[in-house]
Amino acid sequence: MKIIFKSALLLLILVVMSCGTKEEKRKDGFSVDRAKTTEKTTEPESEANQVPASQRVTLDEKGVGQIKEITLDAEINSEMAAAGEALFKTNCTACHKIDKRFIGPSPKGIMERRSPEWIMNMILDPKLMTEQDRCAKDLLVEFNGAAMSNQNLTVEQTRSILEYFRTL
Ligand code: HEC
Repeated sequence: MKIIFKSALLLLILVVMSCGTKEEKRKDGFSVDRAKTTEKTTEPESEANQVPASQRVTLDEKGVGQIKEITLDAEINSEMAAAGEALFKTNCTACHKIDKRFIGPSPKGIMERRSPEWIMNMILDPKLMTEQDRCAKDLLVEFNGAAMSNQNLTVEQTRSILEYFRTL
């Protein structure tokens, strides 16, 4: 039983790593054609897929782009946040509403779902992100292929929007 479980686990890792079709991989292995072990290998993956990208917590991911590492002060800089709010109003509200999901997701509570780096990379280069970042890719699908447009903001402007997001 232990061996079966171990081999099932190994197969699951292989399946996840290779992103291959589950059916094929399972047949390559040994003693996994039992109903119970098959269930075990499929469960975790399908559960993860059931969480919509907009509700997924991906705080460990920094995304793809020029922002590699940023540190936030413990206190919110209200001046910077106000500048960010103004920028958000002019550049983002066509697609993002604070109180509800619109063409894109609401940024409310975003700091609990995404890392600061991920958020800034998404604002600075949404095309690159939706092409190369797993969560951004899934967001694009969730929002029916409506692509976020690049607002050509500077890193400083983007940083102030991030500060505004901390107040939401
Ligand atoms: C043309 C519509 C549009 C505009 C303008 C736009 N966005 Fe988006 N945004 C989207 C869509 C749609 C998504 C979901 C991903 C996708 O479909 O590309 C998104 C996703 C995001 C995300 C990820 C949200 C999450 O929950 O992970 C952030 C952050 C974001 N936008 C910030 C901004 C900011 C800041 C601006 C203004 C500088 C902006 N967006 C302008 C449409 C837009």
